[in-house]
Amino acid sequence: MEGFGQSVLHYVGGASSGIERALHDIFAAILEHQPQGMLVAEAEGCIGGYVIAIPSMPYLWWHVISRGHLWQWAKRWLQGDYGIELGAVLSLAQNKAGFALSQIRLARHTNKARGHTAQILSIAVHPSYRGQGIGHALLHKALGYLATTSAAFVKLEVRPDNLPARRLYEDLGFIAVSRTCDSQGPWIVMLKSLRGGPLT
Ligand SMILES: CC(C)(COP(=O)(O)OP(=O)(O)OC[C@H]1O[C@@H](n2cnc3c(N)ncnc32)[C@H](O)[C@@H]1OP(=O)(O)O)[C@@H](O)C(=O)NCCC(=O)NCCS
Repeated sequence: MEGFGQSVLHYVGGASSGIERALHDIFAAILEHQPQGMLVAEAEGCIGGYVIAIPSMPYLWWHVISRGHLWQWAKRWLQGDYGIELGAVLSLAQNKAGFALSQIRLARHTNKARGHTAQILSIAVHPSYRGQGIGHALLHKALGYLATTSAAFVKLEVRPDNLPARRLYEDLGFIAVSRTCDSQGPWIVMLKSLRGGPLT
């Protein structure tokens, strides 16, 4: 929450009650499925930053559904534990659907025969530790992990005005291939080959 500030609170209309619990539940489910893809950087004994790298989003969704996490989240949301209004949930679902469509459109940039596309789901460095190479180190390590999986490409989305993040991704070889948008504005979709060589 400290890493993303307002963009997290967007879904709860500025109030943070319950959002920690929602994030905890989501991160715990991802950790259960993909412990090797969740990396934390320690700085002075604290969490300086983290990255979440997912080799296959369909497998993550399968895990979330088959292990009952989705129903658990729905139950907690209905009980009011997360403090998120219906409108925000619908907007979140619409955003996720937009990302899924952008994934389908990406097919023209990736050669399916070479393998599927992994995802950098999230990366953030604590504001106190930014600009010291932690983001670069985390992403580099995450890409190293993804290269050991069967994924051939890796994708991420970044806001056009997020210059530090764009610079980081470009440094590590990501290329802007398309655009999508959600309720908070546009996203640039960036792609990188994990096996070297061109994207297609
Ligand atoms: C993006 C983010 C993870 C980068 O982490 P970081 O530890 O500060 O990054 P690094 O120190 O490794 O720097 C990476 C590159 O970004 C550049 N950079 C860092 N801060 C910058 C700034 N304020 N403006 C422009 N570029 C910047 C650095 O110059 C570096 O490029 P270089 O190696 O070519 O000099 C961090 O800014 C962050 O947590 N932002 C908020 C969360 C976020 O936006 N996540 C990405 C969502 S897509």
